[in-house]
Amino acid sequence: MKNVTVIKHPLVQHKLTLMRKKETSTAGFRRLLQEISMLLGYEVTRDMPLTYETIETPITTMDAPILDGKKVAVISILRAGNGIMDGILQLIPSARVGHVGLYRDPETLEAVEYYYKVPEQMEDRDVIAVDPMLATGHSAIAAINKIKQSNPKSIKFVCLLAAPEGVKTFHEAHPDVDIFTASIDSHLNDHGYIVPGLGDAGDRLFGTK
Ligand code: URA
Repeated sequence: MKNVTVIKHPLVQHKLTLMRKKETSTAGFRRLLQEISMLLGYEVTRDMPLTYETIETPITTMDAPILDGKKVAVISILRAGNGIMDGILQLIPSARVGHVGLYRDPETLEAVEYYYKVPEQMEDRDVIAVDPMLATGHSAIAAINKIKQSNPKSIKFVCLLAAPEGVKTFHEAHPDVDIFTASIDSHLNDHGYIVPGLGDAGDRLFGTK
């Protein structure tokens, strides 16, 4: 599929299998989501530009690579996005953070916004928007619609699992936003859940069910 990177690294796939298991505890799920998000974050930041700085090692002087002043905003789509955000912030501790609060109307499955706060100077920032589950795509599309109003330099979308339906709908709405995921699963069920999936990511992360 175009504009979708499925991260097939064995560590990612192994951790994802553990997360899918229904007997995995809340603590285990949370830890795994943080670990896997660091690995997803590693891939999503692969094209960050470098510049060179002259430094002194204990032995000699060298021109050493450093990140080229990229301003990153990690934007979490609440509430389960916070799990991925935590992992990515371990990799990019200086990143600024935004939140988009959306809930899914159980009848229509449409996204309804209840919270929005992003950092200043969004025009200078590269956005990594995060939500573990790209299911119908409605909340991701609504979140990206809103984020685009702040005019960031670029947007990438990171999720743990995607449904083919969600990927298609998302790309029809936002063909310019690349998706990074650990798996594209089989399909959505009648309740909008990803099959085989891992259940409700928010409930599993926060132990709310
Ligand atoms: N949101 C979830 O948490 N799980 C799904 O399977 C679909 C949407």
